[in-house]
Parts: sequence; structure tokens; C-alpha cells
Amino acid sequence: MGLFATKSLDRILQESGGENELRRTLGPAALVALGVGAIVGAGIFTLTGIVAANFAGPAIVISFVFAAIGCVFAGLCYSEFATMIPIAGSAYTYAYATMGELIAWIIGWDLVLEYCVGSATVSIGWSQTLLALLHNLGVDLPRRFVASPFQPMALPDGTLIYGIINLPAVFVVVFASVVLILGIRESAGANAVIVFLKVSVIVIFIAIGWRYMNPANHTPLIPPNTGVYGHFGWSGIVSGAGVIFFAFIGFDAVSTASQEAKNPQRDMPMGIIGSLAVCTVLFIAYSFVLTGVVNYKDLNVGAPLSVALTHIPMPWLAIAMNLAVLAGLTSVMIVMLLGQSRIFYSMARDGLLPKIFGDIHPKFRTPWRCNLVLMVFVGLFAAFAPIAVVGAMTSIGTLFAFVLVCAGILIMRRTHPNAPRPFKTPLVPLVPILGILTNLFLMSGLGWSNWARLVVWLAIGLIIYFSYGRKHSHVQSAAPRSGVRA
Ligand code: ALA
Repeated sequence: MGLFATKSLDRILQESGGENELRRTLGPAALVALGVGAIVGAGIFTLTGIVAANFAGPAIVISFVFAAIGCVFAGLCYSEFATMIPIAGSAYTYAYATMGELIAWIIGWDLVLEYCVGSATVSIGWSQTLLALLHNLGVDLPRRFVASPFQPMALPDGTLIYGIINLPAVFVVVFASVVLILGIRESAGANAVIVFLKVSVIVIFIAIGWRYMNPANHTPLIPPNTGVYGHFGWSGIVSGAGVIFFAFIGFDAVSTASQEAKNPQRDMPMGIIGSLAVCTVLFIAYSFVLTGVVNYKDLNVGAPLSVALTHIPMPWLAIAMNLAVLAGLTSVMIVMLLGQSRIFYSMARDGLLPKIFGDIHPKFRTPWRCNLVLMVFVGLFAAFAPIAVVGAMTSIGTLFAFVLVCAGILIMRRTHPNAPRPFKTPLVPLVPILGILTNLFLMSGLGWSNWARLVVWLAIGLIIYFSYGRKHSHVQSAAPRSGVRA
């Protein structure tokens, strides 16, 4: 079997069984809400402070614009794949149909960074928010049990200490995993409430915080570079864009709902670009107010919103907002871990991963063993990793997947020119090429240490592929297995 053996579109559709029979009920507004729900999370509520304090200062507003541009191009490419291969799939499935098994493996393995390491990042943001909420209520958890051993933390008197383990982050990983194992689905209604809460937190903060801004905090808007690449100045804006790109991850959820769109050609770009546009405006306004209320130098914390709210004399507001953020982050984690289990399930069904990842629980009809493995893996990152490191790893991995997806559109237009495309990426080859270039540009800002982590991660993946996946691949022989409620 060749490294570039592809899985035919017919076979993928056949394996997806009834999945492509979903009812077409989603219009543009519902798709925008879906996208906003998947996007708003730890990026805006946690990483904003870290990026402003370490990379861009108040110019984080420009970083958000750069990151959004990369997402728009990639989003248009995702949509074409999503409508051509209309199953609740992922970049892994798209790549298998177009670029062959090796690239599909690389993307699938790379997406672990997006979904697993991403959910660990969200769990650390959750832990920091919980800490802030409890502090508002007069309870302080022992510091050493709420932080990574690799991340110094300042005590109120200024002394720096290191944590031992981040227990609240581990707790929320276990909670989300149990929800998935039991197959508890978030209802559309619950999802709508959570989206409303998350957006309300941002809008209310902008509206109230606006009055508490100190113009001196925005002067200069772009702090001068310190002489080190990525530390403020324009290079800091680019590095900041690479990290804060995390805040936009999740909009690809819209593309995976393409089979439920009423009119994919019209609704998909409106859903993707609409949710990105709404989030970009919210994120820019939010980070502008945040860095106006608090000097960016004081924002190197996991719960920057709480720091800002200490400047606003309304204690109830901090409690209400932290509660809403906790609910929002929990739902983002569930969505990310669900996405990961679906990808591993597909990879196991294709023989590229051991069968255990595809085992379905007889009662719950969920890939429970896969969820348990993921719980341990993500739990380790949640327990011990510093948030800035896992956030940047998630960003670089996702950006790399976007580059491959954009390249996939160029390849697919050549190899399958006549395949039906309910949605066509506009201006091909320009849009995919710009997608590749902008996402590589964002990756360039992430520094050698993140590149090294990406290379090591991919090298581990290739070792697994050549020692296991390639030998067990079903692509040419095996029959498809039964469906799953992931
Ligand atoms: N965009 C999602 C978040 O910020 C991943 O949590």
C-alpha cells in the first residue's frame, strides 16, 4: 500500500452511514451562533492577558486582526471540503480523501495538538477563573495545588513560588470526560444559553469598563520592541497574533455542520465569516478596554478579567462574570474532547490506531476507552503544564493543519475537478495560497521553541505511523465498522 493511497469519496460516504442524512435546518444565524459558541473561550478570557503582558501590549488589538485574517482564508477552504465530504468529519477525513494516508495521518496526529492540548489549555484557564471566583467569595485555595510546577506565581507580597499540581484543571478534565463517556449531549437550548452568557460577559465588560479606562495605559499603543524578537514592537504583534490565534480556534465547527446547512453555498461562508467577524469585533473591543483599564504590564495572569474587575467598584459583577466564564469554558472543553474522540475513532476505524480507540461502550454507545485515554493524556498537561506553553502548542499545531487544508483545496481542484462542490472556495488559487501564506506567517511568530515542539510531536507521530498505522491500515481491504455516538 502506498503512502499516498487515498480513501475514495464513495467509501467515506458509505462508511458515514446515516450521518449524511441529517436534516438541513440551520440557516446563517444559527451557524453564526454555533461558531461563536465554539470560538469564545480560554483564548479571550485567559490568554489575552498573557499576550498583552509578554508580546504585544495594547497592540494586541492588531494581533487579533492578523489572526482573524488567517482564519478567514482557512475557513473558506474548510467549507469547500466540508460540503464535498458532508459527514461530521474533520481535516483528517478530508485529507484521507485527497492527499493520501500519510498526510491524513500527519493532520490527524497534528490535530491532537488542537483538540487535546487545546482542551488542556482551556482547563488551566478554567482553574484560574475558579481561583478568581473563590477569591471574590473570600476563599483562597492553597496556591501550590492550583498551578504548574513550571510556572512561577507571585504571592500578594511579591514573592515568587512554583506550584506542585493544578488540581482544579485536572478536575474539570475528568468532569468533561465523564460527561462524554456517559454520552450526555448538550441540548441546543443549553448551548444557546451558554453562548448568550459568554457573549454577555464580553459585551457588559466592554460597556462598563469603557468608563474606567485610563488613556495613559494605551500610550503608546505599540510599546517599543525591547531588542528581543517578539517582545513588543511589530515582531511582538506577530508573535502575539500566533498565540492569540488560539482565541479563534473552533470556528471550523461551523464547517463540520455543513450537512445541516439549509443552503451550503450561501450559508457556510456566512456562518464562518459571520462568526469570525462577530468574534473579531468583540475581541478587539474587549482587549482594547482590558488594556485600557489595567496596564498591560499587570496582565500576566490567568484570569485577566478578574484583575480588570478589581478596578471597577461592583463586586457582584466579578462573581457573575466568573460564573458565566466557568460555564462557557466547561462547554468549550466538552466540544474539544468530543472532537478529539471523533478523530481518534475515525483513525482507529481506518486501522491507523489500535482498536481500543474505536471500542464502543455497549450501553452508552460512546468510545469510552478512547475518552479514558484522552482523560489521562489531557489530565497530565492540565496538571503540570504552564498555560502559555500549551496555548502556543495548540496554536502552532492548528495553524499547521490549516496550511495543509488550504493546500488540500489546491490539490483537490486538480485531482477531482468534477466532484460536486455544494460550496466552492472563491478565487482559487488565490484564497488557498493566501491562506497558506498567512498561516505560515502566524506560525513564524511563534518562535523556535514552539517549532521544536511541533517537529518533535510530528516525529513521534511518524514513528507510530511507520511502526503501527501503515501495517494495520484498512484502506484497501477492511470493511467499515459500525457507527458511534461520539
Ligand atoms: N477558541 C477556543 C478558546 O478560546 C479554543 O477557548
